[in-house]
Amino acid sequence: MNATSASIPVIAIDGPSASGKGTVAERVAAALGFHFLDSGALYRLTALSAMNQGVALDDEVRVAEMAATLPASFHDGAIWLAEENVTDAIRAEAVGEGASKVAALPAVRAALLDRQRAYRQAPGLVADGRDMGTVVFADAAAKVFLTASAEARAERRYKQLIEKGNSANLPALVADMQARDARDTARAVAPLKPAADALLLDTTHMDVESAVQAVLAHYASCMTRSKQGN
Ligand code: C5P
Repeated sequence: MNATSASIPVIAIDGPSASGKGTVAERVAAALGFHFLDSGALYRLTALSAMNQGVALDDEVRVAEMAATLPASFHDGAIWLAEENVTDAIRAEAVGEGASKVAALPAVRAALLDRQRAYRQAPGLVADGRDMGTVVFADAAAKVFLTASAEARAERRYKQLIEKGNSANLPALVADMQARDARDTARAVAPLKPAADALLLDTTHMDVESAVQAVLAHYASCMTRSKQGN
């Protein structure tokens, strides 16, 4: 990070899978005219590349090489691996599982660090993930840890899958969600946990709009506090 990028505000939104943080983060970014980073997509793209090329998900050296050279781009409202539109492919449950496996490998996390930080561009960035506030943007202007009960999150994922015409099984989704949370929380590197200075937002009984407003209010109060501190 250089002196210029350090002054660009970041709002870090972390939390477990299907907590709604992606939707909330995107809307907060739109409301402020900020850039948006879906860091989970980078782990999903890494897993998808490895799966497509028959590389074992625990082959740390080869998976990290792939992460470092990922031909990924986000444009035209879609996510691309080279020329291929993989927007839907990376959302498959198997790819989410794979992402959580490759995300536990320290060399893979290191390989994705600079790529994530490069998204910090004026006028600001909203970054969504697991370690945005603790590791990648530890100096973020505002940090939020968004949660919801495993049942509420599984229900949200269930609805998304059914709406897209996929079949889904609610008890299996709850079990998958708990397994993924356990792996993300227990890993040695950058585990899923709230930053010490994060606002904890439980959205179990909250709609998206209320969550967006809560994040915007938190950001405004952090900015006011930092101005008063100067
Ligand atoms: O957020 P999403 O469900 O797309 O992330 C997929 C997986 O990528 C997560 O289960 C987690 O293991 C990993 N991840 C991570 N750090 C991030 C974002 C995602 O470890 N910043």
